[in-house]
Amino acid sequence: MKKLLNISDLNKDDFFSILAYAEELNNNLDKCLSNKHIGLIFEKNSTRTRLSFQVGIKQLNGNYIDIKLDELNLQRLESFEDTFEVMSCYLDCLVFRTNDHQKLETAFKFFKKPLINALSDQSHPCQAISDLFTLKEHFGSLNNIKIIWMGDINNVLFSLAQAMNFLNDSRIDVFTDKKIFERHCKNYQNFRNINFHFKIDESIFRLANCIMTDVFNSMNDKEDKESILKNFQVNSKVMSKLPETAVFMHCLPAKIGSEVTKDVIKGSQSIVIQQAKNRMVAQRGILKWLDI
Ligand code: CP
Ligand code: NVA
Repeated sequence: MKKLLNISDLNKDDFFSILAYAEELNNNLDKCLSNKHIGLIFEKNSTRTRLSFQVGIKQLNGNYIDIKLDELNLQRLESFEDTFEVMSCYLDCLVFRTNDHQKLETAFKFFKKPLINALSDQSHPCQAISDLFTLKEHFGSLNNIKIIWMGDINNVLFSLAQAMNFLNDSRIDVFTDKKIFERHCKNYQNFRNINFHFKIDESIFRLANCIMTDVFNSMNDKEDKESILKNFQVNSKVMSKLPETAVFMHCLPAKIGSEVTKDVIKGSQSIVIQQAKNRMVAQRGILKWLDI
């Protein structure tokens, strides 16, 4: 049974098949989700992921059902395990955003049908697929892509780093605080294409195609990292170190004035709206690949 809880659920062929399906469906929608019912569970807020799945599913002739956890008997007396097993009697697929990645693993064990991680505390695989789709669309190829990531080490970076493992001659240089790195370094031991730095190194900036960031504090983070990460803001001074052809990316929502300044996110190098639009394009590719 196919699932997308992490990018590591895919092999290189799967990853490139998803990108190809996304492109194919972008040129010509088909009805691959006819008579299919897909549940959406969002334990945390969402604008892009929720809406792009809702519209993308409809465009492929499928049906989506918004499931509110607090309206289920899960809140009363039923176990998590029974809830997901019963849901699999009615639904063909589930899209689940949660605070706790372990819940996704448990849900898959009992749901027994395709399951998609719509963001967890650990990872955001749909975002990584979509962002690499956007870079391919912008630069024409994913060969030799050099990404700079500034700021927090989080779910979005983790999935991006896993996806970068599929690319040749590409790499991510992460600029972050050393203490934050020390907390997360064990998760990045088996990655080929990632390097961590604690001070700006202009020689790396001069070669980059893309600079990416995300909020310094993710949803449900317990600690406020604004002051620890303030030196890793993407502003005009940082942008001036990059080639003029380099793009600025952010998964959104952004906290303007924190991880990025307004002139950068609204500036000519920013492709954040194209990036957001492609969430729906990439998700249609994921749904087709799942072969529900
Ligand atoms: N980038 C992203 O996942 O946005 P939402 O939280 O709005 O879904
Ligand atoms: N890292 C952010 C991503 C939001 C799409 C968060 O988890 O809140």
